[in-house]
Amino acid sequence: MHVMAINGSPRKNGNTSALIHAMLQGAAAAGADTSEAHLHTLDMKGCMGCLSCRTKHGICAQKDGLSPFLEAMKSCDALIVGCPIYMYRICGQMKLFVDRVYSLYTPKEGGGYNSAVPAGKRFAMVISQGAPGQEQYERSIRWLAGMAGTGLGMREVGRIIHADSHVAPASQNEALLREAEAIGRRLAGQ
Ligand SMILES: Cc1cc2nc3c(=O)[nH]c(=O)nc-3n(C[C@H](O)[C@H](O)[C@H](O)COP(=O)(O)O)c2cc1C
Repeated sequence: MHVMAINGSPRKNGNTSALIHAMLQGAAAAGADTSEAHLHTLDMKGCMGCLSCRTKHGICAQKDGLSPFLEAMKSCDALIVGCPIYMYRICGQMKLFVDRVYSLYTPKEGGGYNSAVPAGKRFAMVISQGAPGQEQYERSIRWLAGMAGTGLGMREVGRIIHADSHVAPASQNEALLREAEAIGRRLAGQ
């Protein structure tokens, strides 16, 4: 059982990281192996638009620090995707990741897409934002869950939207950390 996290926050000790780490701890306590891609410190590029993945299905021709993590999306058992909101949308590091995930959407005869990710994986999400209303960025958050998780055939088992982050940092919010741990255990099948 392998639970992998894709962390889009540049801040290794920030809010997104605290919540992702709590999820990974929950998963580890339930017996899972865990790993984390910290996108900001990876030597990674955005999609180069070569469309090689339209013929070589499930394979991104851009080889860099993200490549092993894109590959692991096919083999892991559960995935966490987390990032802060920047300028009313997901942060740029996460957008680069989502564009590369295009390689995991394979063209379907007659239109639409199939997934290069085997079915049956679990998925969870973490979002941190300064604004108080959890519903404020609902469209962006729903889009991210679709593109990086459920659209690939994964089943979402939990989502944390950490709002008002300037007032209440995630690392000091015990209830939220416990919720993240519980989601982590669900990711590991407990
Ligand atoms: C460049 C930048 C843009 C931001 N834009 C928004 C925004 O549009 N809406 C919002 O609610 N918070 C915004 N924030 C605040 C972050 O979302 C917030 O501080 C979040 O908790 C950061 O997460 P982190 O600690 O995981 O990095 C912005 C922060 C930065 C640095």
